[in-house]
Amino acid sequence: MAGSMIVTGAGRGIGAEIARQAAGDGYRVGVLDIDTDAAERVAGELPEAVALEASTTDSDVVEAVLDVFGTPDVLVNNAGIVRFSPLLDHSETDWRAVVEVNLTGPFVCGRAVARRLITEGRGGTIVNVSSINGIAPGPNSGAYSATKAGVIQLTRQMAIEWGPAGIRVNSVAPGIIDDGMSAPILADPEVRATRSARTPIQRLGTAADIARAVLWLGSDDAGYVSGHNLVVDGGVVSTVLAGMPRPQHIDGVSDAR
Ligand SMILES: NC(=O)c1ccc[n+]([C@@H]2O[C@H](COP(=O)([O-])OP(=O)(O)OC[C@H]3O[C@@H](n4cnc5c(N)ncnc54)[C@H](O)[C@@H]3O)[C@@H](O)[C@H]2O)c1
Repeated sequence: MAGSMIVTGAGRGIGAEIARQAAGDGYRVGVLDIDTDAAERVAGELPEAVALEASTTDSDVVEAVLDVFGTPDVLVNNAGIVRFSPLLDHSETDWRAVVEVNLTGPFVCGRAVARRLITEGRGGTIVNVSSINGIAPGPNSGAYSATKAGVIQLTRQMAIEWGPAGIRVNSVAPGIIDDGMSAPILADPEVRATRSARTPIQRLGTAADIARAVLWLGSDDAGYVSGHNLVVDGGVVSTVLAGMPRPQHIDGVSDAR
């Protein structure tokens, strides 16, 4: 047995795949989701897994879930939402909802697990799911990009404060993933083809690509990695200058004088 792991937002999409790979690696998995039916479906497919019904933003409910499951060796703060619109049209309701789930949720769950690990006198690992939007904002993302930048910085904050207690904290920034919340965007064949072609390795990412990175950061193989944001995007965020014109060869530039 590799230990225990709680994955938030594991009822579908990337979180469900993280839960599946974790079970395959021998973890006892807590499949946590606000959507009980979805959590039960995923947990029902996996050995040793249990469905945990909770909103990551509700501290009392999160504590009750930890009382039942126990303190996990690995917490994956994966639950997240997006509300697309230009900032000029973005409602405060949408703004607050996205901040609450994407930023407050990882804080609430991370704090609860870290407090328990420290009280129990043992180390653990937290992996937060950020996004390449936390590095490079995309159009019409509303509060989403700002919250994901916040997750990257919250990760570093957790890492410096909880590292001395033996708790490593990292984040994974998925690129354009052919699953979960991106599915409605990628349903348009033209958008799909463009996004794939503009990715340096020429394909969209999969939930499995992200799960592998999360599992690695949660494992002892990453035992000296903390405070890191691991970008898993096929090279997309490196393309910011790729569209800038520049000739292949320019005589006389930077010649020694
Ligand atoms: N899919 C992508 O292209 C992509 C890219 C970059 C980052 N991400 C990030 O990956 C993570 C997973 O995304 P996904 O695409 O699998 O999303 P998804 O919408 O398919 O799944 C999210 C899950 O989280 C659950 N959830 C939402 N709010 C919750 C709450 N308060 N408490 C508990 N559960 C809650 C939902 O019920 C759902 O099962 C998110 O943090 C997202 O921002 C996704």
